[in-house]
Parts: sequence; C-alpha cells; structure tokens
Amino acid sequence: MADLSVKIAGMEFNNPLIAASGTFGFGREYGEFYPLEKLGGISCKGITLKRRDGNPVPRVAETPSGMLNAVGLQNPGVDVFIKEDLPWLKQQNTVVIANIAGNTPEEYCEMAEKLSDTDIDMIEMNISDRKSVV
Ligand SMILES: Cc1cc2nc3c(=O)[nH]c(=O)nc-3n(C[C@H](O)[C@H](O)[C@H](O)COP(=O)(O)O)c2cc1C
Repeated sequence: MADLSVKIAGMEFNNPLIAASGTFGFGREYGEFYPLEKLGGISCKGITLKRRDGNPVPRVAETPSGMLNAVGLQNPGVDVFIKEDLPWLKQQNTVVIANIAGNTPEEYCEMAEKLSDTDIDMIEMNISDRKSVV
C-alpha cells in the first residue's frame, strides 16, 4: 500500500486525513462504526477552561449550498477532557489534537499548560470570532 505518511510540526501522521474539530466529537461515537486508527489524526471538539452547555437548539440549519451551525462550543471543560476523554483517545493509535478556545491569552495559556502536562500530541488554537466564551 502507498505510504501516505506526513510530518507536520515534527509530528508523524500515518496519512493526511484529520477529522475536523467538532465534527467528530471526542471520537467515541465514531469509534463504534469506524476504526479510528485509519485516520491520520483527530482534532477534538473545541474545549474551554470551564464546561459550556452551548447554544439552545436549533443549532444547525440547512442552506441551499450546505449547512450553518452554531453549536456554541458545548464541551465538558479541559479538566474533564484530560481525565475522561484523553486516556481513551490515546489508545486509538492515531494522532490526538486538542482544540482550545479561550477569551483571553491567559485562558489559552492555562489550557495549554494543563495539556502540556499530558501526553496530548498537538494543540490547535481555536481563534474563531465570538463575543465571549463563558
Ligand atoms: C457541527 C460542527 C461543529 C464544529 N465545532 C467546532 C469546534 O468545536 N471547534 C472548531 O475549531 N471548529 C469546529 N467546527 C468547524 C470545523 O472544524 C471545520 O473547520 C468546518 O467544518 C469547515 O471545514 P472545511 O473548511 O473543511 O469546510 C465545527 C463544524 C461543525 C459542522
């Protein structure tokens, strides 16, 4: 089989396919249907310093050319991600990327420091425009 491996920022991926953040949750649900090790990596659902419940429904709307979504970064917070999701993800033999979203540089730093103390493979900064991440 062809060698599709790629190196990004010193990290070796088996192939260049990375599940986009948010579309794949923290991988568990898709793992029931698909061998996650076939992916080059998973960019996890965006996480924040504290847990967020996200926006009220409806969060998704169909458009003539695709879809709009406004999930509102629903997530359990960085500490729960590290404790409950990361250990499972690290057993899936794929590159695990944490996607972090903050309101201030300090919040990004605090999350990055917490994650740097784990065996996460990479950290992706989510800097999409938002009024506030609380
Ligand atoms: C339901 C849904 C949830 C998403 N959640 C996140 C998220 O938590 N963090 C993030 O950085 N991007 C999130 N995204 C954006 C995707 O990661 C991706 O950037 C977007 O779908 C555009 O991909 P494309 O440029 O390949 O079309 C989300 C997208 C969708 C459709």
